[in-house]
Amino acid sequence: MLNLVIIFIVVTCINSARSECPCPDISLCAPLQTGPRHEKVAFMVSDSNWRSYDYSQLTTIVICTNDIDPQLLCLAHSRQVRLVWIANYDVKQLSNATARTEWVNRQVDNVKRTYTDGVNLDMEDEIPYTSDAAHKYTELVQELSNLIHVQVPGSMVSVDVAWSAPCIDGRCYDYAGLARASDFLFVMAYDLRSQIYDLNDCVASANSPIVQVAAGLTNFTQIFQIPPSKLVLGVPWYCYDYKCLSFDSNMTCTIEHVPFRGAPCSDAAGVQRDYQYCRVLLRMNSTSGRLIDNRTGAVFFNYVNQQDTYVHQVWMDDPETLTIKYNLANDRRLLGIGMWNVDCLDYASSASKEAQQDTTDMWNAMKIFHSVHRKT
Ligand SMILES: *[C@@H]1O[C@H](CO)[C@@H](O)[C@H](O)[C@H]1NC(C)=O
Ligand SMILES: *[C@@H]1O[C@H](CO)[C@@H](O)[C@H](O)[C@H]1NC(C)=O
Ligand SMILES: *[C@@H]1O[C@H](CO)[C@@H](O)[C@H](O)[C@H]1NC(C)=O
Ligand SMILES: *[C@@H]1O[C@H](CO)[C@@H](O)[C@H](O)[C@H]1NC(C)=O
Ligand SMILES: *[C@@H]1O[C@H](CO)[C@@H](O)[C@H](O)[C@H]1NC(C)=O
Repeated sequence: MLNLVIIFIVVTCINSARSECPCPDISLCAPLQTGPRHEKVAFMVSDSNWRSYDYSQLTTIVICTNDIDPQLLCLAHSRQVRLVWIANYDVKQLSNATARTEWVNRQVDNVKRTYTDGVNLDMEDEIPYTSDAAHKYTELVQELSNLIHVQVPGSMVSVDVAWSAPCIDGRCYDYAGLARASDFLFVMAYDLRSQIYDLNDCVASANSPIVQVAAGLTNFTQIFQIPPSKLVLGVPWYCYDYKCLSFDSNMTCTIEHVPFRGAPCSDAAGVQRDYQYCRVLLRMNSTSGRLIDNRTGAVFFNYVNQQDTYVHQVWMDDPETLTIKYNLANDRRLLGIGMWNVDCLDYASSASKEAQQDTTDMWNAMKIFHSVHRKT
């Protein structure tokens, strides 16, 4: 018992104390100050690749790991890149003002303790149209922004939102209010097949079809009157591998009926894979070669899976199709672009020549979006 108490005290101290600045140059532990600039936002899910990212392009890294290497802080700040923590809030506690304030304080303390630059909110729960939870969520974001902007000058609060408003996947959020309450919205322009209502259309198809992505942006800017300067277009650096139950001469791949939030068919029938994995499949296993679906602006190919012996169809974006999306962000004068997630590429020094080239090409494709140092 005594041991437990002591351990508890020690852990509490470690958790709340601000450790010494880990950087040789202590100015790197100050929150980053930058003028207005375009954003390139990377979601980091692994702690093993960060040394290989393209810091000449990035502006923000969203930390989705439990912890960070202190050296990442020093490197990122020396390259003018913000580090922000991904965070979630229990949707059931949105009406609980005490819980909201406690949570906000915890986020701000964490940012200060780690010398980082803000918070990215990734709540993706359903909120019905009739509920006042949407309003409470906006209030939570506003409360966080108000406190963190004072306590950590230069910090940023961003909110992840569905590819379109108002109720994709049952997420009836107050999109315009969230945009006002935060520094920007990260539009997750992927998983567009999360809810297929027509069972005749229960087939493999594009994760991020260009026409709908453009329509989703129009919804945010035209119907919800959100300034484009508050929007970052998030694109997938992952792919979907679908097992085909049947496969016709038009290469239509029908998939298992897997329901999601009230829809009888969804992309949950497929398996999400990293870009690098699908590129290896394309090179090693494809029976069709790389095909472009001109209707959706996406890449797909077929292969025979060795484990289950079925034909599979893989849908993905690659530098050619991503360039169209980055150009869309340019045309619409958006604040930025970003990806889920930056660790989908092969950064290993032992990677094959082809894999290394893929990694370079994916980063280079992003260069078509404004130079980050240009003012918005
Ligand atoms: C509201 O939040 C506080 C603090 O987290 C908690 O102690 C309390 O039980 C919550 N109230 C309800 C009704 O859940
Ligand atoms: C855009 O918003 C309108 C009005 O809320 C809605 O009817 C329409 O389905 C939305 N479009 C897309 C692409 O989500
Ligand atoms: C293939 O597509 C063509 C043109 O859209 C259509 O006429 C034909 O019926 C399709 N074949 C199958 C097997 O669905
Ligand atoms: C898409 O269009 C290109 C160029 O017009 C064409 O070569 C290609 O065959 C088309 N892709 C498919 C799957 O029809
Ligand atoms: C792809 O092909 C390789 C080499 O033939 C094989 O070892 C591997 O199992 C195949 N992958 C899948 C997912 O079928």
